[in-house]
Amino acid sequence: MADLSKSQQDTQKEKEMAGRAAAELVRDGDVVGLGTGSTAYFAVLALGERVKAGLKIVGIPTSNATAELAKKVGVPLTSIDQHPAIDIDIDGADEIDPHLNLIKGGGGALLREKVVASASKKMVVISDSSKLVPVLGKFPLPVEVISFARAVVEKKIAGLGASVKWRTRADGSVYLTDNGNPILDCSFGKIADPVALALALSNVPGIVEHGLFIGLASVALVGRGDSVEEVR
Ligand code: A5P
Repeated sequence: MADLSKSQQDTQKEKEMAGRAAAELVRDGDVVGLGTGSTAYFAVLALGERVKAGLKIVGIPTSNATAELAKKVGVPLTSIDQHPAIDIDIDGADEIDPHLNLIKGGGGALLREKVVASASKKMVVISDSSKLVPVLGKFPLPVEVISFARAVVEKKIAGLGASVKWRTRADGSVYLTDNGNPILDCSFGKIADPVALALALSNVPGIVEHGLFIGLASVALVGRGDSVEEVR
């Protein structure tokens, strides 16, 4: 943390508090969805500590990066094929609105994250305080697309009113998800009706999944200052 500015350190602390609070909700015997990103990182670390202290769980990672992290910290993994019913899913978000609708996918893991969330009895969203917004849309909405459909999907989403940009890696090459698909980052501005937009996007052939998570989150644990706020 030494190289971080004061406000970056505060954000890290909020993420860690939220991640640790969520890890405390996990019970012996649970099948746990393990989210992806810099906030989920802290939840996985905390789960690793609890496993070392005797907690018996199995985790389903939502990305290759999370699978690596879980292995490193000693959280036993399973597959969603073996455990299609998940007790609790802990994951971050890029934006959270007052109805617990989310934008996710900033880290590119939206597809597996949504599958895991949809198979979970409870999805616990964890974040720092900057992620709570009155209306979704400042963060560009990630949309995972099959490569074959790139041009068609780009045109259709632009037709829905977004300015769009294919995600690239730092070296300028095309970004591909763990599933081998590109991501179109779509700036809609304020999304007044996320339910309608989610439906419209789901109806576009060639879109594998979009980052609007509607009605999936059960609760959000949001780090704010020195405490964790619960949003339901
Ligand atoms: C991963 O694809 C995303 O959905 C993340 O959950 C989201 O981007 C939040 O990440 P951070 O916790 O790193 O902000």
